[in-house]
Amino acid sequence: MDSTTLNPGLQFPDDVVFRGYAAPVRIEADVHDLEVVGQIPAALNGAYFRNSADHCYPPLLGKDIFLNGDGMVHCVRFENGHADLKTRYVRTEKFRRERQARRALFGAYRNAFTDSPEVAGCDNNTANTSMLWHHGKLYALKESGRPYELDPMTLETLGERDFNGALKSRTFTAHPKLDPETGECIAFGYNTEGVPDPWIEIYTIDPEGTLTRTERFEAPYCSMVHDMLVSRHYIAFVVCPMTSELERIQRGEPYWHWDNTRTTWVAVIPRREGVAQMRWFRSARPVFQTHTFNAWEEDGPHGTRLHLEHFITESGWLSQFPDLHDPSAEEKPPFGERWTLELGLPHDGFEVRRFIQHVGEMPAIDPRYAMKRTRHYWFGTSNTDLGPMLPWGPKGPPFTCLAHLDNETGKLDFWYAGADSSPEEPHFVPRSADAAEGDGWLLSMVGRRAENRTDLVILDALRLSAGPVAVVKFPCRVHEGFHGQWVNASALAR
Ligand SMILES: [Fe+2]
Repeated sequence: MDSTTLNPGLQFPDDVVFRGYAAPVRIEADVHDLEVVGQIPAALNGAYFRNSADHCYPPLLGKDIFLNGDGMVHCVRFENGHADLKTRYVRTEKFRRERQARRALFGAYRNAFTDSPEVAGCDNNTANTSMLWHHGKLYALKESGRPYELDPMTLETLGERDFNGALKSRTFTAHPKLDPETGECIAFGYNTEGVPDPWIEIYTIDPEGTLTRTERFEAPYCSMVHDMLVSRHYIAFVVCPMTSELERIQRGEPYWHWDNTRTTWVAVIPRREGVAQMRWFRSARPVFQTHTFNAWEEDGPHGTRLHLEHFITESGWLSQFPDLHDPSAEEKPPFGERWTLELGLPHDGFEVRRFIQHVGEMPAIDPRYAMKRTRHYWFGTSNTDLGPMLPWGPKGPPFTCLAHLDNETGKLDFWYAGADSSPEEPHFVPRSADAAEGDGWLLSMVGRRAENRTDLVILDALRLSAGPVAVVKFPCRVHEGFHGQWVNASALAR
């Protein structure tokens, strides 16, 4: 047989991004009636959608970062105590072109200069980061591209969306904020032409899905702006020294570098008056905001006090992107910080308080309390009093625990997931529309590493250490992911 006409075998690299529990899954599954240990609460009627980065093909350049996998959405649909699983790739332009070619055509993360010539000018969006449910539509989001709309029942990709032509930018954040009082979605885009620049655009989308307002401002430099903060009357962006330059990516270097010679800035923009009234505040340290809990205001002796609550590290995200000056620099852990900005005073400093002393990430709040003072906070963490740390994976150290902070009592409560088990982002679902803040359930995908399987765990959000109310057992592994979204059955039905 003439082997010269055969393509080489498809094989993923033997490294931390593609090996063991992190290995690509690539299975589009439908499992009806998952095994359930315990009782799924009757109030949990709806669907939990979660996005992940699951490389469909071995990387074009022989290696890649975790962050650059293809968007694979996992959905667990709950109905009357039953749970069904559905997983589907988002049919992005990148996915479609590569599947047709049966190999990778796009190169490094957001770096068109490393792509195959046959996909020149094509969109490299992987749509792999988060899910948005707004105006009755479901979107898969990635900050380097536009939203992809999915059918919430079938997960079929319906197409890339630009809100009827109103979104001019090529990019749209994976962390928009939903205003529980007005029903608006506040979002933003940066690097709006698909290449590094210091401009940030802010969007307002009304409850009917019309993009009603776009505003634009220039930051001090081009920064990775992964998340945002919105209170009742203000929007805030943390501009961190995770920087990009066109010349560097043209040379084939990573899109981002951590440059701790730069200052971390905070832009504060009144929601009503807009960027014409924006102010800049200056951080005393070069720090990186990983993800946000919430922002809220109160009256102080000098006028309005704005509190920004988020996870902050004193390094960049070095497991994904290098340090510009020190290739051997090590990633530092994130802690929960509250930054208090006195808007009535003229100075550009602010007070920093570490309100979560445990290393943590993937923050969650009760979404009905977004943009106002919050009592309950949840996050992923590890606690060596309860069990040993797990070996680092391709996106940093896996969590071993979920934690709840009651900010009124100061009490921290942990759920330890068990040896070889790694919970992912917690997601809060209220027990009912009018339940008190925090009264509800915490959902989390949990890696069962020794069994090469995944569970979806349901905990009483205010009694984590009591252990799961129910464990929904998948017969297979779904890829570790990022961010999810709960949608009630009544909203899905509409
Ligand atoms: Fe994120």
